[in-house]
Amino acid sequence: MTEMELLIDFHKDAERQGPGSNEDTLRALSFIDLDKKNRLKVADIGCGSGSQTISLAQNLNAEITAVDLFPEFLDKLNNNSRKLGLQDKIVTLEKSMDDLPFAKEEFDIIWSEGAIYIIGFENGVEKWKDYLKIGGYIALSEITWTTNSRPDEIEQHWNNEYPQIDTASNKMRILEENGFSPVGYFYLPESSWITNYYQPIEDRIDAFLKKHNNSDLAKGIVEAEQNEISKYRTYKDFFSYGFYVARKVE
Ligand SMILES: C[S@@+](CC[C@H](N)C(=O)[O-])C[C@H]1O[C@@H](n2cnc3c(N)ncnc32)[C@H](O)[C@@H]1O
Repeated sequence: MTEMELLIDFHKDAERQGPGSNEDTLRALSFIDLDKKNRLKVADIGCGSGSQTISLAQNLNAEITAVDLFPEFLDKLNNNSRKLGLQDKIVTLEKSMDDLPFAKEEFDIIWSEGAIYIIGFENGVEKWKDYLKIGGYIALSEITWTTNSRPDEIEQHWNNEYPQIDTASNKMRILEENGFSPVGYFYLPESSWITNYYQPIEDRIDAFLKKHNNSDLAKGIVEAEQNEISKYRTYKDFFSYGFYVARKVE
């Protein structure tokens, strides 16, 4: 197995592939002022196995196109949506987020939790805004500094991992420069990281290593996850996922 195949294997049976919660999804949704009686067209980009896609489908009269690059995650989402009787609301699409087949102004809402970083926040906002109707909403969760200054170690770590990490005010400026009016912001609480994402990862480690015979690649993946978890536990006062909701006005 390649490293990517192992990573997918490690994450595919998890309920989520990133920090978040049903409550966070509903809180972001509460900022969206659209007539929810109408059938809305929604894109959920980088959906993973679709925990947030399911929440959106359960709370909106909508046709949701859930996009991910990896079919393993989309298969999980399709199974879950069938089990819950939501298959008429959710269509999955195996595509890269930088090569989407969407039409101009096709959607009322573009949603993406913990995934826009893959093509970079600014690039993603610039690319995806064309797919939104005027008056439509974008809702994005994105790694964010929660204070104006922070210890060097965590600053350097994130600048190496994702140089576009920034404060909420700078992320909102990018939204404004792209024709959006920010209508809501909050950052994810600790439980969305630990209870919903990191604890399940820690619970899967032993079985994963056993399944892959303690291979060096598998051990490397586990070590990287453990480092990330330890960084979060030490420096959680300085960063989180910010959730940004903004309305397209231009
Ligand atoms: C951190 S996970 C977030 C998943 C989900 N939104 C959640 O919060 O649980 C990022 C997701 O982006 C997907 N992904 C990675 N590269 C992608 C690409 N180029 N296009 C579309 N999806 C991609 C991954 O497969 C993964 O499911």
